[in-house]
Amino acid sequence: MAIKTIIGGQWGDEGKGKVSDLIIAEAVRDCPAGTSVIVVRFNGGPNAGHTIKVGDRKYVVHNLASGIIHAGVINVSGPLVVHDLEAVNQELDTAEECGGLVVFDRSAPVILPLHKQLDKAVELAASANNRAIGTTGRGIGPAYSDFWSRDALKLGDLVNPERIRRALLNRGYYESRAAIVSHFGLQPISLDDTVDWCHAHSGRVVSRLGDTREIVAEAHAKGWTIVPEGAQGILLDTVHGSAPFVTSSFCTAAALTATFGLYDLQETPNEVIAIVKAYTTRVGEGPFPTEMLGTDQAIGEDVRNRGQEFGATTGRPRRCGWLDLVALRYACRVGGITQLAITKLDILSGLPEIKVCIGYEFEGRPIREHETLTGRVLREATPQYVTLPGWSDDISGVRRRLDLPINAQAYLEFIEDFLDNTIPIDFVGVGPERDAIILP
Ligand code: IMP
Repeated sequence: MAIKTIIGGQWGDEGKGKVSDLIIAEAVRDCPAGTSVIVVRFNGGPNAGHTIKVGDRKYVVHNLASGIIHAGVINVSGPLVVHDLEAVNQELDTAEECGGLVVFDRSAPVILPLHKQLDKAVELAASANNRAIGTTGRGIGPAYSDFWSRDALKLGDLVNPERIRRALLNRGYYESRAAIVSHFGLQPISLDDTVDWCHAHSGRVVSRLGDTREIVAEAHAKGWTIVPEGAQGILLDTVHGSAPFVTSSFCTAAALTATFGLYDLQETPNEVIAIVKAYTTRVGEGPFPTEMLGTDQAIGEDVRNRGQEFGATTGRPRRCGWLDLVALRYACRVGGITQLAITKLDILSGLPEIKVCIGYEFEGRPIREHETLTGRVLREATPQYVTLPGWSDDISGVRRRLDLPINAQAYLEFIEDFLDNTIPIDFVGVGPERDAIILP
């Protein structure tokens, strides 16, 4: 059985929810009797926002895997996912309503109220000197810091208030983090309130704790379909993105292998599908070479409005830009991408001309093919564009690539050609509805 990993190929918000929903639905439909489908969330936390539209209903899943809206699907939340217990409880309501099953890894870290205080306080202080990252304010960075410093409260510690308190007092954990909050001029949430908060929101999580790594390994050995679902996007990866304007976890499929010990066995076709918007967006601060600014600003605003480019988690307007094939080539390389899903092609309909970035000039020379796109490269590069002709037809009803307007087909071929025709475009999104998609 194939492992089909879904990850964001840009700066997040590429429309992963819709593609993973489709892949999950397909896997459920084709699932042999006696087996099940496992959707694995392996990175990030409530900073994500996967939107899935089913008929008139819109689901936005932040902290859990988007398979929670499918009855009988097992949604595994791995050891590198950070959990906001309040967000998790809301999504467990959705899972219960829809029949999705959820299992949490015991060693996954908890985002404490202190982490959210700290995230916001640091950003506020940094914004005074124009140094803010523009985080989602969900406590992601501080929670991951504590995970890597080996102090974090784990989901497995939530079993009773005594154990929560003991874990918070271990190695001066609570006091040291509260002292940092005080340093930023805020009143830290007290230890008692932290224990109470954790306990109040822990019951439904504790009853779903399990050995997620064993579950996934066994399912893999038995040939069940596993759909790993990444959050954020490769260009926000802590290592491969433009630090410090990145998130605090790995956003490539490497996070799956690192945390689940799940490798590409020879007989297992390993598919890593990057979801890529037909243009580019970025939310928060950080370099963005193809941002529609200056003479393109009005186009950027139009794309933002038509594409409803406002954050699913924070509601912030997203910055819009042209498709950046240099960044995409880099993301495909460091992310081990085997297929692409291009989303929101319909949003480009009506533009007479469409620019595509095919090179960067950096330090007076062209960027090299395998060069790392560090923050400095992205900040200082001058993007080089080709201009392709647009199309005016409404494409939302098209279901075969051959039925797209000729210029839309040429746009997709241009992307594949740029990537040496080694990474096919297997899906093309042409509208927000579940079925508004062109399949292979
Ligand atoms: P954090 O992950 O909240 O710490 O935010 C760090 C950076 O990543 C900020 O620029 C955020 O806007 C961005 N970011 C985090 N999660 C997402 C996401 O799911 N989509 C898009 N951007 C994100």
